[in-house]
Amino acid sequence: MASLEGRVAIVTGAASGIGRAAAVSLAAEGASVLATDLDEAGAKDTATLITGSGGTAHAAVQDVTDEARWDAIMGLCRTELGAASILVNNAGIAIGGAIMEFSLADWKKQMSVNLDSVFLGTRAAMREMQKTGGSIINISSVAGLRGSANLGAYCASKGGVRLFTKAAAVECARLGLPIRVNSVHPGIIDTPIWQKSITGMMDGLPAEQVEAMQLQAGANAISAEAIALASTPMGRAGRPDEVANLIVFLASDASSYITGQEHVVDGAMMA
Ligand SMILES: NC(=O)c1ccc[n+]([C@@H]2O[C@H](COP(=O)([O-])OP(=O)(O)OC[C@H]3O[C@@H](n4cnc5c(N)ncnc54)[C@H](O)[C@@H]3O)[C@@H](O)[C@H]2O)c1
Repeated sequence: MASLEGRVAIVTGAASGIGRAAAVSLAAEGASVLATDLDEAGAKDTATLITGSGGTAHAAVQDVTDEARWDAIMGLCRTELGAASILVNNAGIAIGGAIMEFSLADWKKQMSVNLDSVFLGTRAAMREMQKTGGSIINISSVAGLRGSANLGAYCASKGGVRLFTKAAAVECARLGLPIRVNSVHPGIIDTPIWQKSITGMMDGLPAEQVEAMQLQAGANAISAEAIALASTPMGRAGRPDEVANLIVFLASDASSYITGQEHVVDGAMMA
C-alpha cells in the first residue's frame, strides 16, 4: 500500500517548482491533494497532472498572506477531499537587494509572503488537525541557516520559518497534539524562482562573483545550474522531485518520531 493512502494534503505554491513536485509526489503515494496558488491556471495544471495519472486532486486560488482565505481553504478541502492531515507551506518569493538600498516595503512584502504565511498556515492546520493528527512541513532554505549577501530579507524570512517551526513542534508536543512540524531547507534547486523573483541579488557584488553566477541573457535572470556549480559540492542543481521525496517522508508515518527538526536537501552545500 502506498504510504499516504487515505491522507489529504494541502500544498501551497503548487503551481510551480517544488510545490508542484510535492503535490505530484504526495499524490503518487496515495494522498488526495489540494493544490493552491496565486496562479490559478498553474494550480489547475498541477491538479490535472495528478488526476491524469490516476490520483485525486483539486485546485484552488489562494494568496497565502490572506488570513481569511486560510479558513476558507481548510473548509474547501474538507468539502472536496476530506479534512487535511498534511500541510506543505511552500509558497514563497525571493526579493534580492543590498541592505543599504532595500526598501521597507520590499522587506514587509518578503516577510508577509514567506513568514506570515507560514504562521497563518500552521495556525490553521493546528486548529484543523488537533484531534485527528497530521504533519506540517514548512519550506525554508539553506538561506535560513546561513547568511548571503544581497539576500538579507529572504534570509531573515527563512530563518524565521526555521525557528517558528521548532516552536510550533514543541508546542504541539507539549500540548499532546498528534501533530508533527518540520522544516525543509533546499539548496540550489532548478525552478522558475531563479528567473522570476531573485532580482537585485547581484547588485554591488564583485564582478568576478557575478560572472561566476553567469547572468543569462535578459536582465536579472540567473542560472541555478551555474550557481550550483560554484557553490554545491555535488556540482549540480537539485531537482524539485529530490526535495519532494523528503517532503513525502516527513508527511508519512515513516517519520513518526521526527518533529521540530530542520532537514537539509542541498547536495552537500552546507556540509
Ligand atoms: N528553488 C530553490 O533553489 C529554492 C531553494 C530554497 C528554498 N526554496 C523555497 O522553495 C519554495 C518554492 O520555491 P520554488 O523554487 O518552487 O519557486 P517557484 O517560483 O517555482 O514557485 C513558487 C510558487 O509560489 C507561488 N506564490 C508566490 N507568492 C504567493 C502567494 N502570496 N500566495 C500563494 N502562492 C504564491 C508562485 O505563484 C509560485 O507558483 C519557496 O518557499 C522558496 O523560497 C527554493
